[in-house]
Amino acid sequence: MDSPSIEWSEHINEVPKEVFVREDVYQVELERIFYGPQWHPIAHESEVPNKGDYKTANLAGVPLLIARGQDDVVRVFYNSCSHRGNQVETAPMGNKKEFECPYHRWLFSTEGKLIGCSNEREFSPGFDRKDYPLAQPRTASFHGLIFITMSPETEELDEFLGDLKKTLRELMAGDGRLKLLGYQKVRYDTNWKGYTDNDGYHAPLLHQAFKMLNWQGGKGRQFVTTKRGHVGFESELSVASGNGALQDPSLIEFKGQDPSVGSRVISIFPTFVATKHLDVINLRFATPISHNVTEVHYAYFAHADDDEEMLKHRLRQSSNLLGPCGLISMEDASIFHRIHIGNHAPGAAIFQKGVKSLSVVGSEFLQNDEAANIPRWEYYRDIMDFERSAA
Ligand code: FES
Repeated sequence: MDSPSIEWSEHINEVPKEVFVREDVYQVELERIFYGPQWHPIAHESEVPNKGDYKTANLAGVPLLIARGQDDVVRVFYNSCSHRGNQVETAPMGNKKEFECPYHRWLFSTEGKLIGCSNEREFSPGFDRKDYPLAQPRTASFHGLIFITMSPETEELDEFLGDLKKTLRELMAGDGRLKLLGYQKVRYDTNWKGYTDNDGYHAPLLHQAFKMLNWQGGKGRQFVTTKRGHVGFESELSVASGNGALQDPSLIEFKGQDPSVGSRVISIFPTFVATKHLDVINLRFATPISHNVTEVHYAYFAHADDDEEMLKHRLRQSSNLLGPCGLISMEDASIFHRIHIGNHAPGAAIFQKGVKSLSVVGSEFLQNDEAANIPRWEYYRDIMDFERSAA
């Protein structure tokens, strides 16, 4: 599919607003980004801890089924029957001994093998069940975080993640041995790029509650680790004395092992974000539903070795701090929607905070900069073949 015609400024800190709202742009993004050579995190193995556990997911309209087989191996399947393509499972999660497609009752094992089909003797000559397993996308895993790609050309995951691996591992409690606490699921009325264009600049300005966590005064950095524009963020986070709002400050108590890095955030192109603020471990599996709507599943985790007290603390902190109604992030949903409305006006979105050059893209940024978003835009522009105007 050819790239749509878009006028793009010669300045690296300007992004034409029309890329957020044009349906023809979205169609090319599907082909080149979501179905193209990118890795997409879609689940953590701890979401399906027992044999037969499964969850369903959706990546840009493609239905997926993640299941732990009776052999204890976690696999990802297309959630599409190998007969006529019917969606096999509809529940968000559950436990099954096998998966039965309701249309003609073909039966699949939790390892994806076809183990039964009705009227088989009347099938085409040479029919063999072993030729009809549930199809699988290419997968890879990093400390239990499962990635898929729909392109055979995607580089190995290790190379794709680059130097982001250390931050990602530390964010997942240091070893990825997690225990699922629960989910919040939300649809934002915004383009997927509006959702991921979140920045460090806005945090203490939009979210008043971040002041309780000394965000502005903390020491922190943002860094870009690969040409793909993934962004890592590490920061001190501490509880301000006299937070002025909470009667019970234990809600924002930090019991973690490493208070010098109270906050870690990673953003993996195109839509995955993971955060660890205080003791909240949060993986955000996001997908575009259309060019106007983005769905995010906030999955919250504890560490597998947490005792009862720590589990309770994480559960309480997770359900109160983050997500669409979280103490420190509730304003995001409104801004995601309003920025999408605003992006229907002509002109460009302009980045300023931390921009040191109008032509050279940096790789290290301050905690409160928005310039860390620019490398991702450069990568996006490159994939989409959007040429800059001549200076
Ligand atoms: Fe699944 Fe026919 S489509 S059994």
